[in-house]
Amino acid sequence: MSLLIKGARLVATPRGTRACAGRSQGALALLSNAVVRCEGRSVVFVGDRKEHDSDFPLPDETLDAAGGCIVPGFVDPHTHLPFAGYREDEFDRRLGGETYAAIAASGGGIVATVAATRRASDDELLALTLARLDRQLLTGTTTTEAKSGYGLDRDNELKQLRVLQEAARRHPVEIAPTAMPGHEVPPEWRHDPDGYVEHVIAEIYPAIAAAGLAEAVDVFCEKGVFSPAQTRRLLADARRYGWRIHLHADELTDLGGAELAAEMGAASASHLLHVSDIGIAALAAAGVVAVALPGVSFFLRDRFAPVRKLVEAGVAVALATDCNPGSSHTESMPAVMALACLGAGLTSEEALVAGTLNAAAALGRADRIGSIEPGKQADLVVLDAPSHKHLVYHFGVNLVRHVVKSGRVAVRDGRKTADS
Ligand code: NIG
Ligand code: FE
Repeated sequence: MSLLIKGARLVATPRGTRACAGRSQGALALLSNAVVRCEGRSVVFVGDRKEHDSDFPLPDETLDAAGGCIVPGFVDPHTHLPFAGYREDEFDRRLGGETYAAIAASGGGIVATVAATRRASDDELLALTLARLDRQLLTGTTTTEAKSGYGLDRDNELKQLRVLQEAARRHPVEIAPTAMPGHEVPPEWRHDPDGYVEHVIAEIYPAIAAAGLAEAVDVFCEKGVFSPAQTRRLLADARRYGWRIHLHADELTDLGGAELAAEMGAASASHLLHVSDIGIAALAAAGVVAVALPGVSFFLRDRFAPVRKLVEAGVAVALATDCNPGSSHTESMPAVMALACLGAGLTSEEALVAGTLNAAAALGRADRIGSIEPGKQADLVVLDAPSHKHLVYHFGVNLVRHVVKSGRVAVRDGRKTADS
C-alpha cells in the first residue's frame, strides 16, 4: 500500500534519530512545496514533486494537503490516561484560592482518583481511555506514553495496564505503557510508607513484569510522597525488569530529583519547576530528556519550568500534556506547545521539536518516530495552516486536518476514518 501526500505549502520536521539539545533544539528542515510518499508503514520519500514522479510509480492512494503544512505526528511522553472520575470540584476550589497541596491534604488529589479508578470495571476504564485516545489522535498525537498509578495495589495497577494493552490493540495511537505504583502512598499504607515501597518491590512490580504489561517505570519523588531514598530503591529494583526509567522530579520542591534521574540513567525527568542549577547540569551531562509540562503550570496557576535555561544548558527539552484529572486535564499537544511558547519562552520551532523528536527520544523511540524522513515510520499531521508556526500562533483551535499513522490515513478532514 503506497500513499502520496501532495499539495503541501510546507513540510516542517526535525531530522535525525536522537534528541536535539541546545542550539539544535529549534532546528527544523523546512521544505517548500514538497511531497511525502509512504510505502507500507514507512516514509520512503520527502522532497520535490517532479523528482518523486520520475522515480516512483503512481501511488495507491493520494491525500491532498490543500496548501497546508505537514509536521510529524506528535508524541506525548507523559500522561496518566487510564483514570476514572473527575475532579472539577477541586478545580473550582483552586479557582477560589485553595492550593493543590491543601486539597490533597484534605482527602482530595490523587487518592480521590485512586478511589474512583479502583471502583471502575475494565470496560468502563477502557471506554474512558479510548475516548481520550480519540481526542489525542484528533489533535495530532500519534504516539503516547500512559501510566498506571491510580490503582496502587496489585490488582488495580494490573487492571490499568491491561486496559492500556487492550486500548492499544483497538486504537491507531501507539501506547508506551509505564508502571507507576510509585505515584502515591495509598491510604491503606499511609501508616507505613516504607512498607508500601517494599510491597511494590515484592508484589506489584513482579506481577506487572510477569504479565509483560510495562516497558518503563515512573516514580513521584516529592516531599510527602516518595523521598529520594525511597525513589532510588524503587527505581533500582525496577531496573532488573529492563524497564526504561522516568521520574516526576522537582515539581513542588527541589529534592534533587533531577540529580537522581541523572544518577539512575533515566530516559526522562518531568516537571522540574524547582530544578536547581546543579540539577540542570546533571541532566545535561547524563543526556536525560527534560519533559516540561506547561499544562500543569497553567492549570495550577504555578510557575513554569525554566525551559529556556534548560535549552541553554544543553538539555534536550520535550513537552507532554501530563493528561490527568487533577493537575492538567487536556489531551492536546498543540495547547501545550502554545503554553510552552507563551508561558515559558520556547520558540515555535523549539516547541515543535520538543513535541516530536525529543518526545520520541524520551520514550526510547527516536530511531523510529519523531521526524518525517525516509526510513522512519509514516506518522504525520497535515495542518489546516500554511506553516508550523500557526500551531502556537493560532492558539485554542484545532488545526489538524488529516493524520497519517503508520502509513494509513487515521483522520481525514478532521474525522477519524472508519477503519481506524
Ligand atoms: O503528574 N505529580 C504527580 N502526579 C500528577 C498529578 C496527578 C493528580 O493530581 O491526579 C502529575 O501532575
Ligand atoms: Fe504526571
